[in-house]
Amino acid sequence: MKIELIQNKVYLNNGSKKKEIHPFWLRERVNGEKYLDKKTQQRLFDPTKIKEKIRINKLNLSNDYLEITFNDGAFTKLTIQNILKEFSNFNEIKFIDKIEWDSSLKSLNNFEFKENFYEQQEMYNALVNFYKYGFVIFKKVPTKNNFIINFANSIGSVRRTNFGEFFNVKSKPNPNDLAYTSLPLAPHTDNPYRNPVPCIQILHCIENQVSGGYSTLVDGYTVTEKLKNDYPNYYKILTQIKVRFQFIDQSIVLEDWSEMIKLDDNGNFKQVRFSPRLDFVPLMDKEKLDLYYEARNKISELYNSKKYRIEFKLMPGDLLMMDNHRLLHGRTSYDANEGERFLQGCYIDYDSTEGRLKHLKRKFNIK
Ligand SMILES: [Fe+2]
Repeated sequence: MKIELIQNKVYLNNGSKKKEIHPFWLRERVNGEKYLDKKTQQRLFDPTKIKEKIRINKLNLSNDYLEITFNDGAFTKLTIQNILKEFSNFNEIKFIDKIEWDSSLKSLNNFEFKENFYEQQEMYNALVNFYKYGFVIFKKVPTKNNFIINFANSIGSVRRTNFGEFFNVKSKPNPNDLAYTSLPLAPHTDNPYRNPVPCIQILHCIENQVSGGYSTLVDGYTVTEKLKNDYPNYYKILTQIKVRFQFIDQSIVLEDWSEMIKLDDNGNFKQVRFSPRLDFVPLMDKEKLDLYYEARNKISELYNSKKYRIEFKLMPGDLLMMDNHRLLHGRTSYDANEGERFLQGCYIDYDSTEGRLKHLKRKFNIK
């Protein structure tokens, strides 16, 4: 890709096609100190207030820079690299390829927590791993005084829900959710009934004295790709039918409609939701429902299969950070009489975590 000039016009040549870059697009990017606040990179002018038809009066192209004088008197010197970057649609997060994994996964993406960890390159590596695998485990994270909130707010912002800022997972009498028992929990995604669904879940192990209670993870992306290849009809219906996910208690009714497998605008994997106690399919033709139920059974079978599941024991100080739009999580049963098992959990959203990843990338000048 390169920039070319023909008379007073700027063209982008991608090797096979040449396209003119709109002069106003360039005028909006004028970057002298009169036009742009250097610190925030925010405009000091409002482009919607420029009423005259913008044309280019003078152009000069060197190896690294494009100099432009516009008909309204504005002059700018733009870096070629920055212009090309905008056309390459380069997005640091989407650029990180997901790695499909199953029960054969060897590394549990362990990173050791240290003081001032959030500003170190190790944190950048951890976040890249998070986007590759959908999870990371931080070891030796302090367990006192609800440290999970401190951790969550240091790499993102806690997403408060009607359950509060964070939740305590331990078996208790009269639980309002199976999570608060010692029963096994089949693989599921959390809170599929919210809009938006919490993006990232953090689980911090404070105490674990029982012999069972293993944490389980399944890569929803791997399972989705498997379904797409081996059972295209099932894949198709699960990406098409919007089902109602619901949560009801005495003070709130939460509902959201979505496909079990959500694709992005390009038809690629975006999100899975799976919680077969909370989903309600709309009434459709019997044949269509037949197919839908077969598809749901199959994906449930895959999600619950040992082939795709990893199991590990969280020890005090271990903090699991997982992508709730990609992974399913669960746990094996345990005997509450053996001792205490106590985890704390909370949610954070993607935007601030992505922002931190980009910040660290910039800070350490990582290409
Ligand atoms: Fe859960």
